[in-house]
This record gives sequence, structure tokens and C-alpha cells, in this order.
Amino acid sequence: MARTYYFPPVVIMEPGAIELMAPEIKRMNVKKALVVTDKVLIEAGIVQDVLDVLDKAQVPYAIFSDVKPNPTVTNVNAGLAALQENECDFIVSIGGGSPQDTAKGIGILATNPGDLRDYEGVGKTANKSLPIVAINTTAGTASEATINYVITDEERKLKMVIVDPNCLATVAVNDPNLMVKMPKSLTAATGMDALTHAIEGYTTAGASAFTDLFNLEAIKAISDSLRAAVENGEDIDARDGMAYGQFVTGMGFSNGGLGIVHSMAHQLGGFYDLPHGVCNAVLLPHVVAYNADAVGDRLAAVAQAMGVDLTGVKAEDINGLAIEAIKTLSQDVGIPSGLEEIGVKKEDFSELADLALADICTGGNPKCPSKDDVIAIYAAAF
Ligand SMILES: NC(=O)c1ccc[n+]([C@@H]2O[C@H](COP(=O)([O-])OP(=O)(O)OC[C@H]3O[C@@H](n4cnc5c(N)ncnc54)[C@H](O)[C@@H]3O)[C@@H](O)[C@H]2O)c1
Ligand SMILES: [Fe+2]
Repeated sequence: MARTYYFPPVVIMEPGAIELMAPEIKRMNVKKALVVTDKVLIEAGIVQDVLDVLDKAQVPYAIFSDVKPNPTVTNVNAGLAALQENECDFIVSIGGGSPQDTAKGIGILATNPGDLRDYEGVGKTANKSLPIVAINTTAGTASEATINYVITDEERKLKMVIVDPNCLATVAVNDPNLMVKMPKSLTAATGMDALTHAIEGYTTAGASAFTDLFNLEAIKAISDSLRAAVENGEDIDARDGMAYGQFVTGMGFSNGGLGIVHSMAHQLGGFYDLPHGVCNAVLLPHVVAYNADAVGDRLAAVAQAMGVDLTGVKAEDINGLAIEAIKTLSQDVGIPSGLEEIGVKKEDFSELADLALADICTGGNPKCPSKDDVIAIYAAAF
């Protein structure tokens, strides 16, 4: 069946990538940038590295740095006000998923009327976002390259997932030099988010031969690099492997979808303001176990991509080895062992399950879960 696939028009990667931004900005025929970022990245000097490139190319800019992790509708509205006050006509987003997603919300509201809540769901806008040059600093969400963004609606305490090709960045930049200062826990959490994208993307109902290429390649790259990137943040090859792996699965899951690891993790993020990658990592092996009987022999490919040697292994043992490989990687990079440890409360399971079932990613899960199934998975991960 024919399908449409979306990719950013310009991709710049590998160490030193930010140096190659300037000619692309010139080609975009734009006047003034709103730099969308957060305070931690300013203090770490990472934003300055990018501003140096803009200064050298004589690109004028204003800075909006009030993005918080798990960004909110309030963040987006404040950014839109900054964009309008400073008369900016494009966005340079610098950061992980939070500044990237905020920039998408700002860019969309700059060209479309109304409130961001009007656009929750799939493809609801009429107009393309203002142009965005998206510079990623985690590895990661791949938000610099996807057609999705996730913004918390504080009033409803839930994460709105917005899928909209109009939000796609014009230029996606992955420079591992910007990632070397990530602390171990952030490297681990964002890396496990990327692994979750790749495994969910490879086993989702929306997978195709084309998205499989990206997601399997990403499982390999991430499994090869994550331990080393956590162990030594200055290991530029490991950082490069992670930047590549997370970007490649972005190409896959943005075009194929995800599943209930993300549906369930989104609710934990919205409810308790927990790091997205940690929520995914804790849930991932339990959801993979739940889905195992609905994904054919796909877990054999996952296990092999993660480096498991399946020579001589009995067919009935393969799924268990894939799940073990996921758990071992999580453990090796220091992910908390369960939901209780990160402050999740059993009495919230019923409400979390209702919200998870309504999440847009649930439709992509290979198996259609009941509320009891979702509660049982939260309990198994507790
Ligand atoms: N759009 C998508 O397709 C998509 C996919 C997955 C997740 N998300 C969303 O993305 C958000 C999570 O993004 P994230 O995991 O990239 O983290 P983040 O952007 O929330 O950043 C977390 C913290 O890490 C810091 N940080 C970022 N880069 C750093 C660096 N290089 N060095 C030191 N510190 C650094 C930030 O300042 C922040 O304090 C969540 O809201 C999640 O729901 C979006
Ligand atoms: Fe994610």
C-alpha cells in the first residue's frame, strides 16, 4: 500500500556539524532567529558554541531560554510572545527534546491561529511552521528530525502528542561535540529513549520494510555505543554512534509510529514530571514481554542487533534472550530498576491506564491492550 514518508530536507551530522549551518541558513532567505533553548545549556556554554557560528555568519537573533524539561503549553505561549516581540522570522532550537518540541509549538502557532490544544492529534494544522534549524544536544528523542512533538497540558496534567508534518524542521543538526557534557544519568536515560524508539518502531503495527531499515540499524548503533558513552562522556566515537543511532531511529519511528511503552511513559511524565527516557527504560522489557506473542520472529532480529548470538538457541528461548539483553543494557547504564524507585504510586495505576489507552501511540501497539493489561504492565514494572 502506498505511503507517504517525511524527512527533514537538510541533515548535518558528525563532529563539527554546527560549522556547516551558516550556508544553509543563508539559503533559507530569513532575517532574524529566535534561539529557543534552556538555562542549563546556556550555563554549560553549549548555546555559546552555536551563537559563535551565528555571529560569524552575521545572523541576528534574540534568545528565549525559559524552556523546562517536559515543556508546557505556558512555555510555548511565552516563546511565541518572545518571537513576536522580537520580530523573528525563523527559529534556531538548541537542546534535547524539550527545546525542540517547544520550538515546534512556537513555529506552528506563529503560522496557525488559536491555541496549541486545538492541534492535539494528527495533522490538524493548515500551514507549515516557521522555518526551524534544529540543533540536537541529547541522544535522544530525535525531535530535531521527526514530525512529532510532545507538550504537557498543565491543566489536564497530561502530555499532548501532536503528530504534524507541518512541524518538521528545515535543517536537522547532530553534532556530538555538543553532547560530551551530558552527565551519565542523562546519557543513559536519553539513550534508552532512543533504544525504545528503535525497538517499538521495529515492532509497531505501522512498521514497513523501509522503517525497518532505520530501526534495526539504530538498535545496532545504540547497543554498540551506549555503554561506552555513559562510561566516558568524552568518547567522541561513542557520542557519534549515539547521535547517529538516535537520529536514524527518528527517521524510522517518525514514519511508522511507536507503541504502549510511549503511551504509558507519557502519562508518568505528565503526572509526576519524571524524565521521559527513564520512564521508557523501566517499562520497555515489560511491554516487550507483553507484546512478544504478537510480533512473529521480530525479537530474534532485535536480539541479534543487540549482539546476542543465537547460534544453537531453541526457538522458544529467543524472546527471553531479547528481553534479557534489554534488561542487562538498562542495568549496565544505571537505569532505576522499577517504577517505585522513581516515585510512581500504585493508587494512580487506574487513572494512568485510562490516559495511556487514550494516548495516540496506543494505536501503533502490535497488540490491542485492555485497561487490565496496562495496569498489569505498570504493576510488573513497579
Ligand atoms: N518529539 C518527539 O518525537 C519526542 C520523542 C521522545 C520524547 N520527546 C519529549 O522530549 C522531552 C525529553 O527530551 P530529552 O530527553 O532530550 O531531555 P530534555 O530536553 O528535557 O533535557 C533534559 C535536561 O538535560 C539538559 N541537557 C540537554 N542537553 C545537554 C547536554 N548536551 N549537556 C548537558 N545537559 C544537557 C537540559 O538542559 C535539561 O536540563 C520530553 O518532554 C519527551 O516527552 C519528544
Ligand atoms: Fe521517546
